[in-house]
Amino acid sequence: MNKVGIIGSGTMGIGIAQVAAMNQCEVFLYDQNAEQTEKSLQGLQKVLSRLVEKNKIDFEESENIYNRIKFCTELKDFKDCDLVIEAIIENKEIKTKVFQQLEEIVSQDCIISSNTSSISITSLSSELKNPSRFIGIHFFNPAPLMPLVEIIPGLLTKENLAADIFSLMKTWGKVPVIAKDVPGFIVNRIARPFYGEALRIAEENIATFEQIDDAMRTLGNFKMGPFELMDLIGIDVNFSVTKTVYADYFYDPKYKPSLLQQRMSEAKLLGRKSGKGFYDYSEESKEPRIKNQDIKDEKLYEEIFLRIISMLINEAVEGKRLGIASDEAIELAMQKGVNYPKGLIAWGKEIGYQKISDTLQNLYETYQEERYRQSPLLKKM
Ligand code: NAI
Repeated sequence: MNKVGIIGSGTMGIGIAQVAAMNQCEVFLYDQNAEQTEKSLQGLQKVLSRLVEKNKIDFEESENIYNRIKFCTELKDFKDCDLVIEAIIENKEIKTKVFQQLEEIVSQDCIISSNTSSISITSLSSELKNPSRFIGIHFFNPAPLMPLVEIIPGLLTKENLAADIFSLMKTWGKVPVIAKDVPGFIVNRIARPFYGEALRIAEENIATFEQIDDAMRTLGNFKMGPFELMDLIGIDVNFSVTKTVYADYFYDPKYKPSLLQQRMSEAKLLGRKSGKGFYDYSEESKEPRIKNQDIKDEKLYEEIFLRIISMLINEAVEGKRLGIASDEAIELAMQKGVNYPKGLIAWGKEIGYQKISDTLQNLYETYQEERYRQSPLLKKM
């Protein structure tokens, strides 16, 4: 698969283009907005210069990488592609239209894929004349830096295609995992409580954002706490993923979105990109961090950490029970896609599954909510 077409040159498209070009592919890049492609290519030039400065690649290689990417002004230029990865706006109707157009251009052997975070791969494939050549290839942001790639065959995807893409992603230096076509795939499903339970603790005034973040960093060794991370991802983006996962699981209360997050989105307090979210990113307060050691309360920190980690481990165990991916894939995904310090199944063993189960049981009895129901597998672990 040497000729790779990428549709959409936004955040993800240009990142995936860079990865493919760094792996000797001839890349065809198309966006309906040519100005966006120009802007993204300029950005890529800067990224490549930085790699040269850091001696990661030499100048000649940086030129070669850049020259392997062809700026296309129409989709017709994709006619010889072996693989096309779509990374346009997250809208099923718009994506479908683009795929139907593309099917008329590329050869029968061309593999068509989507980088969608939340739309069912099966539903996208079913709109194609030949759904068997369609698959999900889900990169993480920033694509050149995050090793994980979730590969999602839909119900109509031909056998072996997932294995072929798995091998290709390995040659691209990625850490591929195969996931079932379930809402949120692996990472966006299993990670939900990291944000959801943190928001809940804050909404109940049990602790402040700073305390929750600090507890997760210090006791859990997470690189960032939930609120810092939501500020980085964009509070609106994170909220929208939560809403989609919630709706697509037919309103399972486990994934219920947070009112606080909704209000933050409404107020356009979106995080780093808007200058203010859970923290303030204005000039005077660039690095908001907990400074006052007095606020540290060991017992409270333990309670916060145990509550959030138990919810996460429960979600990973339920994913294992339902076979959304292999155990190894579930463990790798959280470490290589969202930088968790350990795999959650191993973490459960370390803390003790009984303790996780007791924590959830206690929450269930306190709140009388389905949200805290345990995976039937948890008790057997
Ligand atoms: P973006 O907004 O940065 O870029 C999307 C690009 O698609 C824009 O440049 C836009 O002009 C172009 N576009 C829109 N409609 C088009 C059409 N009909 N034909 C051609 N180009 C069109 O979006 P981003 O963040 O790169 O997301 C793209 C896809 O990747 C989405 O499906 C998203 O769910 C998924 N994704 C996003 C991640 C993220 O962290 N941003 C992570 C993983 C997946």
